[in-house]
Amino acid sequence: MNTSYKILGTGSYLPELTVDNEMYAKIIDTSDEWITSRTGIARRHLCDGETTWEIAVKAASIALSDAGISPESINMIIVTTITPDYTTPNMATIIQAEMGAEKAFCFDLNAACTGFIQAFDVAMQYIMNRDTPFTALIVAAESLSKLVDFSDRRTCVLFGDGAGAVVLSNREANGDRIVSGRVYESFFGADGTGGGYMTGKAFEAASHPFRSTDKPHREDRFDHETGIFLSMKGQEVYRFATTAMPMAIETVLENAGIALDEIDYVVPHQANDRILQAAAKRIGLDPEKMLSNIAETGNTSSASIPICLDQEIRSGRIRRGQNLILTGFGGGLTYGACACVY
Ligand code: UT7
Repeated sequence: MNTSYKILGTGSYLPELTVDNEMYAKIIDTSDEWITSRTGIARRHLCDGETTWEIAVKAASIALSDAGISPESINMIIVTTITPDYTTPNMATIIQAEMGAEKAFCFDLNAACTGFIQAFDVAMQYIMNRDTPFTALIVAAESLSKLVDFSDRRTCVLFGDGAGAVVLSNREANGDRIVSGRVYESFFGADGTGGGYMTGKAFEAASHPFRSTDKPHREDRFDHETGIFLSMKGQEVYRFATTAMPMAIETVLENAGIALDEIDYVVPHQANDRILQAAAKRIGLDPEKMLSNIAETGNTSSASIPICLDQEIRSGRIRRGQNLILTGFGGGLTYGACACVY
C-alpha cells in the first residue's frame, strides 16, 4: 500500500532510578550471571514516586516538541498500557488535559506488549483514510513495577518502567500535505487459548448486597495464583514468541511486497535478547538489524518499541527514509508487525 503519512516526531522517558542486577541479588535468590545470560538485561529503570500518567506526559511532550507541532493540532490520542493509574478516566484523557490538546478524542488500548503497534496501526487507518489534516499522538506508558511481585524472581528481574511516544500525521509540521508513496502494511494475530501464559488480575467478582448466597463465585478463568501480581509461564511465552514474531515479520513483508533485505531495521518488543536473536536467525536477518536496548531498560511491555525507536532515531542509527519493521508479541496472546518508513 502506498500512502501519505509521516512519523513527525518521537519521544521517550525513563525514570531516573536505575536498578542493576546486583541490587536484585541482594533481595532475592538470583545473580547478575543468571539474568544477563538468560535475558540480556543488565539494569532497568523504575518509577520512584512517579505515576504512569506522569511518565506518559513526559514522553508525549518530547515527541510533540520533536514533531514541531502545537497540542491543538492533535486530532486523536491513543494510550497503550497494562498499568494505568485509574480505570476511569482513561490515560489518554489525562494526557489530553495535561498537554492542552483540546481537539483530540481519546482512548486507551490494551493488547499488553503488542499494544503500541496496534495503536500505531489504528492511527494509520485514520491518517490514510482522510484527505483532511489528521494528526495522532500515540503514547505507550508502563509502570510494571506496580504489577510485579519483588519476591518472585521468575518475573521481577525482567520488567522495567518507561514511556515512549510517536506523533503520526498526514501533514508536515508546517501544514503541507505529505507526498504519497510510502510503504505501509500491517499484520496482527491473537491466540486467546494462550491467555493463561501471562495474567494480571483486575477486580474480584462483585460481592454486592443482592448476590445469591447459593451461587459460588466462578472459579478463576486462568488459575491465576499470584494475587494482584503478574503471573507468567516463561517457557511457554518464550516458545510462542520465537514462532509468532518471525511469522509476523515474514507475513507483513509478503503483504507489503518487499524483501527482507530492503528492511533497514527491525524494532522489536524488548522481552529477551535470546528471543530477538532466535527470531533474527529464523528469518535470516542480519542480527545487527534487530535492534535491542533491553540491557538498559528491561521489558517495558507496550512502551518498549517506541522507547527503542526513539533512542535509535536520536542516536542517528535510524534515519529518514529508512524502511522499518515494528514488531511485538505479548499477553493475550497477541502478536503482529507493521512495515513502515521513518
Ligand atoms: O513481554 C512478553 C512476556 N515475556 C516474555 O517474553 C518472557 C519469555 N520467557 C523468557 O524470556 C524466559 O523463559 C525467562 C527469562 C522468563 C526464563 O528463562 P528460562 O531459560 O526459560 O528459565 P526457566 O524458567 O526454565 O528456569 C530455569 C531455572 C529454574 O530453576 P530450576 O527449576 O531449574 O531449579 C528457575 O527457578 O532458573 C530459575 N530461575 C532463576 N534463577 C535465578 C528463574 N528465575 C530466576 C532468576 N534468578 N531470576
